[in-house]
Amino acid sequence: MTSARIIGTGSYLPQRVVTNRDLEQQVETSDQWIRERTGIYERRVIGEEECCGDLARIAAQRALEAAGISGDDVDLIVVATCTPDRVFPSLASSLQRDLGIRPGATAFDVSAACSGFIYGLGIADRFVRTGGAERALVVGAEAMTRILDWDDRGTCVLFGDGGGAVLLEAAERPGVLTTHLHSDGRYEPLLYVPWGPGQGYAALGTQSGYIHMRGNEVFKVAVNTLTRIVEETLDAAQVDKTEVDWLVPHQANIRIIQATAKKLDLHMDRVVVTVGEHGNTSAASIPIALDTAVRDGRIQRGELLLFEAFGGGFTWGSALVRY
Ligand code: UT7
Repeated sequence: MTSARIIGTGSYLPQRVVTNRDLEQQVETSDQWIRERTGIYERRVIGEEECCGDLARIAAQRALEAAGISGDDVDLIVVATCTPDRVFPSLASSLQRDLGIRPGATAFDVSAACSGFIYGLGIADRFVRTGGAERALVVGAEAMTRILDWDDRGTCVLFGDGGGAVLLEAAERPGVLTTHLHSDGRYEPLLYVPWGPGQGYAALGTQSGYIHMRGNEVFKVAVNTLTRIVEETLDAAQVDKTEVDWLVPHQANIRIIQATAKKLDLHMDRVVVTVGEHGNTSAASIPIALDTAVRDGRIQRGELLLFEAFGGGFTWGSALVRY
């Protein structure tokens, strides 16, 4: 039976570091509040000359290099983002050009907010397993700080920018074991960006183009939903929670991550946590965390990894992966 194996990972973070102390100068907040409520102490912010496509490109390039694969050998590109540089072409098509990926390959973007990477992985896994692609690049890249209202302390302290990528290859050995993708559009009022181009540019005068979030309400649904999806995922793969080697969660809030780890009876030293130094990088957070732990040697070949994410939509998703 063919499965999709991760054969390379890569990530990229912009240079500029913004600390909680920096934000104290901007809004009524404190380093202590942000650390205690979120676990975040700093985040990376995209440079004025950079754009989201740059974050995606460098992360993807690093994943290709790690796998020892040239762009010629890739036949599917999926980029998860809610902050693309243009309405179209997609970031995926731009990546195809910039990385010299074979003309005629399949390339598209996925919009599922913070769950975007899991959605991209789930789609690419289905392509690979059904013979639609031999090698697939799945990228999560976000310039979240470009859609932040820097006067809103409820959101501006939470997010950061970055890109992460994995390269999947068809194999006869186990790779992605199961993926689960969900949405419930009724929750839109709790987390959304009011304006998009479909409303026309005149509406931008009256509608904000920034993230709006009722954080506390999102928090409660996120914890409950992620607890449920962990059960669903383990049941589907008929895997016991004691078999999971690493939890690689979406990095929104350390308290949400701890709640999921507790549900799995997983000690926090088996959880990859990057929220402290990166904040919430939306669709980029899981591939960045994965790449970090692969490169520093924590995650080893053959180990069982659980990914889970929750975000605007609401959307949520999970994947169980034999690395
Ligand atoms: O990845 C996409 C999904 N997003 C998430 O998963 C985010 C989920 N939500 C959260 O992570 C948390 O709800 C937050 C970190 C956003 C907020 O933490 P909380 O413990 O839920 O705080 P809260 O919203 O209940 O606010 C508590 C207090 C309020 O003041 P009062 O009403 O008690 O006087 C807020 O006004 O904290 C105040 N507050 C702040 N104080 C200092 C809100 N933001 C700040 C801030 N600095 N930045």
